[in-house]
Amino acid sequence: MRDAYIVTAVRTPGCRRAKGLLKDTRPEDLLSFILKSAVEKTPGLNAKDIDDITAGCSFPEAEQGLNIGRIAGQIAGFPVDVTGATVNRFCASGLEAVALAGLRVMAGWSDIVIGCGIESMTYVPMGGNLPRPNPDYAKTNPDLYTSMGTTAENVAKRYNVTRQEQDAFAYESHMKAANALKNKLFTEIVPTPATKFVQQQDGTYKKETFIVDYDDGIRADTTIEGLAKLRPVFAADGSVTAGNSSQTTDGAAATILMSGERVKELGIKPLAKFICYTTAGCKPDEMGVGPKYAIPKLLKLTGLKLEDIGMFELNEAFASQSIYCIRELGIDMKKVNIHGGAIALGHPLGCTGAKLCATLLVNMRERGAKYGIESMCAAGGQGAAALFELCD
Ligand SMILES: CC(C)(COP(=O)(O)OP(=O)(O)OC[C@H]1O[C@@H](n2cnc3c(N)ncnc32)[C@H](O)[C@@H]1OP(=O)(O)O)[C@@H](O)C(=O)NCCC(=O)NCCS
Repeated sequence: MRDAYIVTAVRTPGCRRAKGLLKDTRPEDLLSFILKSAVEKTPGLNAKDIDDITAGCSFPEAEQGLNIGRIAGQIAGFPVDVTGATVNRFCASGLEAVALAGLRVMAGWSDIVIGCGIESMTYVPMGGNLPRPNPDYAKTNPDLYTSMGTTAENVAKRYNVTRQEQDAFAYESHMKAANALKNKLFTEIVPTPATKFVQQQDGTYKKETFIVDYDDGIRADTTIEGLAKLRPVFAADGSVTAGNSSQTTDGAAATILMSGERVKELGIKPLAKFICYTTAGCKPDEMGVGPKYAIPKLLKLTGLKLEDIGMFELNEAFASQSIYCIRELGIDMKKVNIHGGAIALGHPLGCTGAKLCATLLVNMRERGAKYGIESMCAAGGQGAAALFELCD
């Protein structure tokens, strides 16, 4: 197999669902903007040379339906020859897209492919607009459709993750993110045009654009005491709250992958090599344990040991599952989500895998980590994990 090089990885800010700065920006606009930005940030690259766009999306319907991978490429102004697809592995969709793009390059089927992710949780709510579980299967196997919050409660209860531990983890996420925001460390963010509708004197609304350049869910004023006061959301006697869950978020991200030949031709200095990707199944009603199985499987496939990995981006779907996975795997917390995770920065479902790729590569470079792993759990009972190697 050939090598697949990542030459550009960027993201929009992540903004709070319904309350945040991107709430009136359509998902196709967010994705097309970040696709265009990724191309513009790649020296010498012309959009016509891109073979395909693979877009991850967890609820690919309504405004983000109709194959947004193709639609966003066209709205971005790419030539008609540049094809596009949409893939769904729930919270791992964006990573699935990056991996599929990488595989095409590695197999020699394509030279330049974009793997990206999109989710507007404002426009399309979690679960979709019209969920329709299979009635016969659900009668005997309701676990497959367990709500994500309930799975987080199950992990906390089954594996003894306390409320105090969850709140402490959430506090750290906000503190790390607030520090990174203050020190301008989220260099993977591209300032993004957002839409607002401004009421005019005659009562009509005019569409206007403004620029958003930061993740608006970060709460620098978070305290342990404040977190402790929040009521459990998913079970009366539970421990999972709005404070120790990932935020529901709008955002998009894109990664450009290229063959070694094209990297040489264009004279580009690649950021990293995409090495390997894997998935592992687990019980649907405790889906948060997914990374516990996906990461060892990835390490086995690549012949590396946990100590070889210098940096981790583990999606903070919930503090309970994050703590459990980190603890079970024995990962050094100093290497995990060094600038905060989804509890502070948000988790725009189908975008997250592509977003964490951009963040991981920046963080690996900042700390000089040769190998980095990105991993997350996904609804239905799955874990996904990918390995990246920094280029010199
Ligand atoms: C838990 C959940 C239902 C909460 O939704 P929400 O009520 O819209 O959450 P918000 O972030 O708006 O927070 C609600 C309130 O909690 C409080 N709060 C949240 N975070 C806080 C913090 N760090 N410190 C203090 N208070 C906090 C605030 O009072 C906030 O209200 P405000 O925004 O008016 O200040 C939602 O975030 C959720 O479903 N998360 C999980 C998403 C998920 O399952 N993803 C897939 C994973 S596999």
